[in-house]
Amino acid sequence: MQFTTLAAFLSLLVVTHALPAPGDEHSKRGLANVYYSCNTPNTVAMTFDDGPYIYEQGIVNTLNQNGVKGTFFINGDNWECVYDSSTISSLKSAYNSGHQIGSHTWHHYDLTTLTWDQINDEMWRTELAMRRILGVAPAIMRPPYGNFNDLVRSAGSVRNQSVIIWDFDDGDSTGSTVAQSEADYQTLVNQHPNNVLALNHETYETSAHQAIPYAIQKLKAAGYKFATVSECLGLPAYSWYGAPQTKDSSWTC
Ligand SMILES: *[C@@H]1O[C@H](CO)[C@@H](O)[C@H](O)[C@H]1NC(C)=O
Ligand SMILES: [Zn+2]
Repeated sequence: MQFTTLAAFLSLLVVTHALPAPGDEHSKRGLANVYYSCNTPNTVAMTFDDGPYIYEQGIVNTLNQNGVKGTFFINGDNWECVYDSSTISSLKSAYNSGHQIGSHTWHHYDLTTLTWDQINDEMWRTELAMRRILGVAPAIMRPPYGNFNDLVRSAGSVRNQSVIIWDFDDGDSTGSTVAQSEADYQTLVNQHPNNVLALNHETYETSAHQAIPYAIQKLKAAGYKFATVSECLGLPAYSWYGAPQTKDSSWTC
């Protein structure tokens, strides 16, 4: 390399280096808050992950019959496509009944394995589906597997979403039988914590039809009140309100 070319190359390096590194700009915007527990006394937030799926309407009916509000963390393209007609129907039913809808991101990927652009794509697609179907954008998100890093928190901050984990897991997605899930709920009721942020999955028939109705009865009998995640944390429910749209051919997974 000739000296002049080398000098030009080095000066280019200096200029390039002076630009912010990819992570810098994001971290300047701050990190989303991460919540593991509710902060309202004597309150339970029941959460249902991985839908919308075929048992969602049944869970909505159970919640409604019990006068209980719950929170659904939905994917776009996991067990079922969010744009299927039956899925749209149960999701609208959940939302219109006053249950909260949060984002569980699009494909249920482990976000800690993804780049900044990929994380934002996973979040944005789910927001778009909620804007289209429900006319709202989420203010809360749960990262799949509960896995997050600062890039995920930074994306949450930019996208106006708090990160929600849990402090009780009924174990349905990690191999617990329905008897074990119910026993875990019974143990929880016996311990009687000040409040509960409970993880359930709406994609298991036994959760939908047995463990969740059981848990609601037990927790109610123990004197707990039920709230959505945003209610139990004192957060806004949604970050944007518009109008639902009508399904067209662009609504695809
Ligand atoms: C986040 O909220 C701000 C302020 O309301 C808004 O300008 C911005 O567009 C929102 N971001 C997203 C991704 O919705
Ligand atoms: Zn999940």
